[in-house]
Amino acid sequence: MNAGSILILPGDGIGPEVMAEVRRIISWYGDKRGLEFEVSEDLVGGAAYDVHGVPLADETMEKAQGVDAVLLGAVGGPKYDDLDFSVKPERGLLRLRKEMDLYANLRPAQCFDALADFSSLKREVVAGLDIMIVRELTSGVYFGEPRGIFEENGERVGINTQRYTESEIARVARSAFELARKRGNKVCSMEKANVMESGILWREVVQKVHDEEYPDVELSHMYADAGGMQLTRWPKQFDVIVTDNLFGDLLSDVAAMLTGSLGMLPSASLGAPMANGRPKALYEPVHGSAPDITGQGKANPIACILSFAMALRYSFDQGEEADRLEKAVEKVLADGVRTPDLLNEEGKTPASTRDMGDAILAALDASL
Ligand code: NAD
Ligand code: IPM
Ligand code: MN
Repeated sequence: MNAGSILILPGDGIGPEVMAEVRRIISWYGDKRGLEFEVSEDLVGGAAYDVHGVPLADETMEKAQGVDAVLLGAVGGPKYDDLDFSVKPERGLLRLRKEMDLYANLRPAQCFDALADFSSLKREVVAGLDIMIVRELTSGVYFGEPRGIFEENGERVGINTQRYTESEIARVARSAFELARKRGNKVCSMEKANVMESGILWREVVQKVHDEEYPDVELSHMYADAGGMQLTRWPKQFDVIVTDNLFGDLLSDVAAMLTGSLGMLPSASLGAPMANGRPKALYEPVHGSAPDITGQGKANPIACILSFAMALRYSFDQGEEADRLEKAVEKVLADGVRTPDLLNEEGKTPASTRDMGDAILAALDASL
């Protein structure tokens, strides 16, 4: 069965390394489950800059608009640090998010039992944790105008603008409430309404959407700084957190450490439904290109593999197959397979990126 189309953008650094394992898993679904994905591949980030002089070619942008799901590895790295801002690798990713209008970025943080002792927090704080951060992804200070570096009174001034319209807030709030209804039915909205007008509007609009459309969902509000503190104090108080672009970036990296490693966190970036009813979608690990471990076979591919599981669930309506893949990951971790980022005992031999892929494929085979 033609299961749908996927554009793979491996990107830079460990991006291609972790994506190689995802490719094997996509093939497994074709061979063993009859889900034949139509897969194409292209360049993004520094890899695209090296060939095209821009971090995302127009043709690649067009391809991304035409597929059911984009899978992205990671972009960036020291080689590109001195490039002009307009062509930095990260701009390629931001262009994809903006032009595909992927306003709802779902960043689940789940602590697998086998890793509960590995988190930097105590076992009882993280064991059984399952929260979902919904980060607004197409607006806020990442995109607001005016922006730039200007001359003013004989010195330079750097400017970025936090800007949110009511409709931008309302649509991401709806995404959060919809998700909450399928989970623990609880949303906590985070902003800084105590110091920012955009925060005041954020709080008002989230409350209004709640009262008019989702009164059955439990809603609370928290200042984002206190939210960061609560996330490390007692994260299990949360179910769904909805927040803006910048706070969501920070809070999701904080949440990563609840799960043991940044190498564990997947994400889905979703937009409005396309003509075929599927949402515009891009899936990527939360982590970056990890220049410190690139090319050494040390990267943990789980974040990228779990991002594909999210694609199965949210783009391809294959919830049971997504469960199968998540269970395979859980089993491999329970069996003690560990990439170096998941190890702290001296003397234990770590698994390579490929070993981890092999183990997950074996667990998938065993699930049949
Ligand atoms: P990073 O996420 O690349 O790395 C932070 C730390 O986590 C490093 O020590 C790294 O080795 C480790 N790490 C990350 N992913 C891992 C994995 N899968 N397995 C094992 N260890 C892992 O963040 P950074 O160092 O701040 O940024 C490096 C580059 O990546 C920068 O150019 C940044 O802009 C870019 N970046 C890209 C994305 C993205 O493509 N979505 C996200 C974050 C950062
Ligand atoms: C992320 C990254 C990106 C962001 C960068 C690479 C543009 O940190 O996806 O979390 O800031 O959104
Ligand atoms: Mn980030």
